[in-house]
Amino acid sequence: MTTPISQISQVQLNTELSLSQLIYGAWRLSDDEDTSIAHVRSKIDACLEQGMTSFDHADIYGNYSCEALFGKALAEAPELRDQMQLISKCNIMLLSDSAPNRRVKHYDTSPAHIAYSVDNSLRHLNTDYLDLLLLHRPDPFMDAEATGRMLDQLIDSGTVKAVGVSNFKHWDWDLLQSAMHNRLVTNQLEMNLLARDTFTDGTLAQQQRLKCKPMAWSPLAGGRIFGDDADAQRVRPVLERIATENECGIDHVAVAWLLAHPAGILPIVGTNNPQRIREAHKALNINIDRETWYELWTAAAGAEVP
Ligand SMILES: NC(=O)c1ccc[n+]([C@@H]2O[C@H](COP(=O)([O-])OP(=O)(O)OC[C@H]3O[C@@H](n4cnc5c(N)ncnc54)[C@H](OP(=O)(O)O)[C@@H]3O)[C@@H](O)[C@H]2O)c1
Repeated sequence: MTTPISQISQVQLNTELSLSQLIYGAWRLSDDEDTSIAHVRSKIDACLEQGMTSFDHADIYGNYSCEALFGKALAEAPELRDQMQLISKCNIMLLSDSAPNRRVKHYDTSPAHIAYSVDNSLRHLNTDYLDLLLLHRPDPFMDAEATGRMLDQLIDSGTVKAVGVSNFKHWDWDLLQSAMHNRLVTNQLEMNLLARDTFTDGTLAQQQRLKCKPMAWSPLAGGRIFGDDADAQRVRPVLERIATENECGIDHVAVAWLLAHPAGILPIVGTNNPQRIREAHKALNINIDRETWYELWTAAAGAEVP
């Protein structure tokens, strides 16, 4: 008898939007050695089969190519759109062949650029709405009133169901929120055993105070957790012990460490490996108690807490 796949549950962000507790990240989609539509589709199916229904995109992923790759798979199976939530981001202006006149990498939170970028995302993803739009990075040149008005307009017109931010400090969040009548729903942050600043610098505290569910990008430190960095080498034996106890991989333990936090963190899984995608749900079955959580923190930090 085969073991049934544990369903990844849905987490409500507001009355309009629920996301899966584990999200699939599309950043590396075009890095896969197989970028055929059939292979992209098989990865989408592997996510949906276990209840990983939310997909994290950005206009710039794969040098502006990943949304279209995903959208082609969706065009062949439009019935899947209702079974998933599509997240995208805007405002990073990359130096790229597709923008030959751009002189410097910069951010653009102007209403015109946000509208242009969302239109492109919709077209590339083959959809007529986004479930969630995020401002990708705080923009020190942001006109908060103008940006906030545009984001409200996108929600009020139904083009996006909700808006959030990424990599924002709480003061960046407060400024943007002060210019909007809709509530920002999440901050997508770099959070993993090797990147712990948000746990203590007020960023996660603000998300908890607002009862928002933060998203964690690069939960395996972009793969560094498997590498030669000193902090990775220190934390790996502890991860391996817990993985053995739970009959799973250290990747699942690293994700479980995020899931255990009371803030209700939503990790974004980034693997292109089909078997790893299929097994992502294993992170949900690992109990990380308070002392184990600190054991991993201490190993990663290389020092006990004060
Ligand atoms: N908002 C932002 O600024 C921001 C920034 C970066 C990322 N993101 C989002 O976060 C998502 C996840 O980021 P990420 O891809 O860096 O996540 P990650 O899960 O930390 O790292 C994925 C990398 O780890 C490798 N890996 C995973 N499991 C492995 C294993 N068991 N053994 C060896 N290598 C393993 C993967 O290689 P394989 O493919 O070979 O498994 C892949 O290269 C992105 O897709 C994107 O949606 C957002």
